[in-house]
Amino acid sequence: MKFDTPAGPNPIDRGRVIGIPHDRIDGAAKVTGSAPYAYERHDAAPNAAYGWMVGSAIAKGRIAAMDLRAAEAAPGVLGIVTHANAGKLGKGSMNTAPLLGGPQVDHYEQAVALVIADTFENARDAAKLVRIDYAAADGRFDLAADQARGVNPGKDADTAAGDFDGGFAKAAVKIDQRYTTPDHSHAMMEPHATTAAWNGDKLTLWTSNQMIAWGVGEVAKTLGIPKDNVRLVSPYIGGGFGSKLFVRADAILAALGAKQVGRPVKVAIARHQIPNNTTHRPATIQRIRIGADKDGVIDAIGHEVWSGDLPGGGPETAAQQTRLLYRGPNRMTAHRLVTLDLPEGNAMRAPGEAVGLLALEIAMDELAEACNVDPVELRIRNDVQYDPEAGPQRPFSSRKLVECLRAGADHFGWAKRNPKPGQVRDGRWLVSMGVAAAFRNNLVQKSGARIGVDAKGRIVVETDMTDIGTGSYTIVAQTAAEMLGVTLDQVTVRLGDSRFPVSAGSGGQWGANSATAGVYAAAMALRAKLAEQAGYPADQALFEDGLVKLANKSQTLASLAGRDGLWAEDSMDYGDLDKRYAQATFGAHFCEVGVDIDTAEVRVRRMGGAFAAGRILNPKSARSQVIGAMTMGVGAALMEALDVDTRFGFFVNHDMAEYMVPVHADIPQQDVLFVDELDDKSSPMKAKGVGELGICGAGAAVANAIYNATGLRLRDYPLTIDKLL
Ligand code: MOS
Repeated sequence: MKFDTPAGPNPIDRGRVIGIPHDRIDGAAKVTGSAPYAYERHDAAPNAAYGWMVGSAIAKGRIAAMDLRAAEAAPGVLGIVTHANAGKLGKGSMNTAPLLGGPQVDHYEQAVALVIADTFENARDAAKLVRIDYAAADGRFDLAADQARGVNPGKDADTAAGDFDGGFAKAAVKIDQRYTTPDHSHAMMEPHATTAAWNGDKLTLWTSNQMIAWGVGEVAKTLGIPKDNVRLVSPYIGGGFGSKLFVRADAILAALGAKQVGRPVKVAIARHQIPNNTTHRPATIQRIRIGADKDGVIDAIGHEVWSGDLPGGGPETAAQQTRLLYRGPNRMTAHRLVTLDLPEGNAMRAPGEAVGLLALEIAMDELAEACNVDPVELRIRNDVQYDPEAGPQRPFSSRKLVECLRAGADHFGWAKRNPKPGQVRDGRWLVSMGVAAAFRNNLVQKSGARIGVDAKGRIVVETDMTDIGTGSYTIVAQTAAEMLGVTLDQVTVRLGDSRFPVSAGSGGQWGANSATAGVYAAAMALRAKLAEQAGYPADQALFEDGLVKLANKSQTLASLAGRDGLWAEDSMDYGDLDKRYAQATFGAHFCEVGVDIDTAEVRVRRMGGAFAAGRILNPKSARSQVIGAMTMGVGAALMEALDVDTRFGFFVNHDMAEYMVPVHADIPQQDVLFVDELDDKSSPMKAKGVGELGICGAGAAVANAIYNATGLRLRDYPLTIDKLL
C-alpha cells in the first residue's frame, strides 16, 4: 500500500483502543521471567555449549603469535575459534571493523578468539590461558589533540543557506562558543547475546537485535552464505539504544563456534567487554555561532561539529537539528570526521540531536541572556514553520514547538524563575530552573506485516518488528484491535523473527509509527477479504465488537475466517514523502536544580516537559519512553562519560561500576505532557516517533538551570562537581 498524503479519516481515528493508555501486553511475561531472552533459549537449543570471547589487549597492530595449547587442554574445552581457523570472512557493510579480528587488530577489545566449553565457567577459565603476542602499532586516540585532522566525510556533511559569514559579522548580538561532549556508552541492561544453532547449512540465531532484516543481511555477508539460510529470532530485547542496530561479535562468534564444535553455542559479550568491543556514541567538539538583533531574533546561525571514528566510519551528526530548529536567513552547518583508533563509534539514542542539542540549547540560553530576553520567549521568537534551509516550499508536516514551550512553561511554573543568576537560596542550596527545546527527526520507513483471523476469531499479527523495551507489542496489538473492531485481549502479536514480513525495525524513533502503519496496511487488506467473504461492500462494512456489520446485518469474524483462518499481508510505503515535507518531533524541557553552596553537589529537584509527536498511540508506554529518555539526558548532563586512555586507546571505565548512569534517587519527579497533534502527512496512523525525543535537549535544560542557579556557565559535559568548584 502506498501512503497517500494527507491521510483522510480512517478506522484508526475511532480511537477506541489506539490512543488509550494500556499496560504492556508482554509485561507479565517479562516480569515473571517467562519471556525468553537470547542467552536463555534452553527451549530451542537445550544442549548449547558456552563461548567466551577473548578481546584484543592492544588498540592497534597485529597478532604476532597465538598459543592455544594450554587453553585447549583445559577442562571442558570443546574448541577455539580464531582468525586462523574461521575461514575467510566477508565484511558486513554496517560494521566498521571486522567482528572477528586478527591478525590485524583494529581496536582494543576487538574479538580475536572464542573459547568454547561445556560450561560457562570452563570457557571463561580457559580463555585466560590463551596466550597472544602482539606487535603493537601507534594509534590516534585523542579527538581534541587531533581536531585539526578533521575532514569532510562527504554526503550531507555540510549545508549552507544565505550568507552566514556576512550575516554573523554584522549581527548586533553575537554568541561564539565551543562545547564538548564525551564518548557515551549505551549501557542497556541485556548484553549483546546470541545462541546459534546449525541444521545442515541452515543457521538460526536467537539473538538480541533491533533490526532483523539488516541483521540477516550482515550475517549472510560475513559468513558468505545465502540470506535464505539465515534465520534471526529476537522476540525480546533487554534494551538497545542503538547498540543492537547491527549484529555484533556475539552473533558471528556464536555461529562460527557452533559450526566448529558441531552443536549449538551461546555467547554473551561480558559487561566489562561491551564498551570497548561494541559501539559507543562518539565524543564531539562543537562550535556554535549565532548572530541576532538586539531582540534576539536570529539572522545567522552556524554549527560545526568534530567527532572521531575508525577509518571508514562516520561522523556524529550533531548539527542536524540546527538545520531545522530556528529561523534565520544566513546559515551553515558542518561535520568533520577525525580518524581515530578507538572502538567503533555509532548510533546511540537520538544520534546527532542528543548531543547537538546539549550544545545548541546552551548557546540559545547564552543568547537569551545577552539579549535580556526570557529563554522561553527567545525560542518562540525564533520559531519557523518551514525548513529554514529550503524555504517556505518545504513546510513541516506538523510543528508545535511554540505550543510545547507555552504549555510546559505554564505547567512547570516557569514564571516564578528569577532571570538573574545566583539569586535563589533554599537552605544550603542555590536553586533555579532551566529550559531547552526538544527536537528529533521523524523518519518514516517502509514496513510490512501479516495479519490473520483464526478459526476462533482471534487476530494474529506477525512482523519482524522488534520490541526493545519500548512497547511495540502493545501498539501493534492496539492497531490490529482498532482496525478489526476487537478488544486488545483478542489479539496475539508475534515479533522479531526473520520468517515474518520485513518491518521498519526499531531505530531512529521510526519504529512505532512505521511498524503500526505496516499493520494498518495489512489490516486494510484483511478487512477487504473479510468484507468480500461476508458479501458486503468493503468501504461500507463496519468492524466492531468482533463482528463485520452492514446496516442491520452482521457476521462474526470467526465464521468468516472459516476453519483455515483468513490471512492478509501488505506493507506501507512512503515514496518521496520526506522530500516534500520536513518531518520532526518537538518539545520543551524544564528542569529545576539545586546546587550545594559548599560542595557544588548538583541535585535535579524536578523535571517537566511538553512534547508534540503526532498521535500518541499508547500514552502510557509513550510516557515511559519519554521519562526514560529524560533520565538519560540527566545522565549526559551530570555524569555519563567514557574516559579515554589516550596512551593506549581504550575506555578505562568499561563497566557499570565506573560508567555512571542516573539511578532512581537522582530523579525525583518527572512530568510529561503530550500536546494534542495529529500528523496526517506522516502516516495513516497520524503518529510520529517519540522514543528518542525525550533525550533531546533534556541535558541542556539541566545545564541552563545550573547556570541560573550559580552564574557558572559550563560548556564541557558532563557537568561534574570539579567543574563547579
Ligand atoms: Mo536508535 S540510536 O536508531 O536505536
